[in-house]
Amino acid sequence: MKPARIAVLAGDGVGPEVTAQAVAVLKRLGLPLELAEAPVGGAAIERTGEPLPAATLALAREADAVLFGAVGDARYDRLPREKRPEQAILRLRAELGLFANLRPARAYAPLAAASPLKPERFARFDLLIVRELTGDVYFGTPRGRRTNERGLAEGYDTMRYDEGEVRRIARVAFEAARERRRRVCSVDKANVLETSQFWREVVADEARHHPQVELEHMYVDNCAMQLALAPDRFDVILTGNLFGDILSDEAGALTGSIGMLPSASLGEKGRGLYEPIHGSAPDIAGRDRANPLAAILSAALMLRHSLGEPQAAARIEAAVEAVLAEGWRTADIAAVGERPIGTAAMAAKVLEKL
Ligand code: IPM
Ligand code: MG
Repeated sequence: MKPARIAVLAGDGVGPEVTAQAVAVLKRLGLPLELAEAPVGGAAIERTGEPLPAATLALAREADAVLFGAVGDARYDRLPREKRPEQAILRLRAELGLFANLRPARAYAPLAAASPLKPERFARFDLLIVRELTGDVYFGTPRGRRTNERGLAEGYDTMRYDEGEVRRIARVAFEAARERRRRVCSVDKANVLETSQFWREVVADEARHHPQVELEHMYVDNCAMQLALAPDRFDVILTGNLFGDILSDEAGALTGSIGMLPSASLGEKGRGLYEPIHGSAPDIAGRDRANPLAAILSAALMLRHSLGEPQAAARIEAAVEAVLAEGWRTADIAAVGERPIGTAAMAAKVLEKL
């Protein structure tokens, strides 16, 4: 069998620490994998002056899958938007056509004490956010700075979606729901935004092709509230790029920590990029404090969605569950009175189970 080629882009802050652990887990499985590393984000700016060097993009393009850490550091906050580390991940998503972002968020029973949810709510919480990833206000033009009619400087962005973009992400959500509890909640702000009203019409139209799945629509402000109050009412949440970014951080907090949430970013074909949804967390970087589980679970998603190895994915997920059940906690998921272990020790526990 030809080995699968994986581009490892660890990036900034805690990115390298957690990605190294995800790589260790992948290697332990004994599958034929060819791993190649390249700099991205601030780490790439330091070496080449650019957040996404051409060689890094080329490596990602040639790979079957990309394992991504995190990008961003306050050091670059004053750079113009197009020079910031975040441009690396945004450009990768756009250049590789990764329009579908899957962000599963669920309750791990042993983490009940770490979640802000009431225990009975927590137990039933298991949802999938399907976030559109290459459109919306993130990529809309025109955007920039200008002087307005009152002579004041202003910044502006454009929110937009075309029918094809909405339809293809809606299809991903409906298809995912078929394998789950067959419910899609499409989240928008159709009471205010033209883009959202359009989104709602297209999603409703696409729903006609998926009669087995029940569709409801919800305003994003209400969804933010429902997530905090009763997340167990959701199965698949379908939403745009900006709302999905915000709601997935909230969903992460509900699991106990954003350090638990993996993600898959997929295009039309099997290729994908896999990253924890958390950021570079510069405040804890290099201190062996970060939770590696989101990165490790992202590697599991990679095995399932890009490498055709669903059983290996399930093995990793079972190992993570077993480690949590034994009571091992990094600082972010430790409840009061629980003694946390470090990044490397947590990953070592997962490796032991494998
Ligand atoms: C995410 C992140 C990114 C986003 C940033 C780093 C550009 O917050 O993946 O959720 O906004 O999409
Ligand atoms: Mg985010």
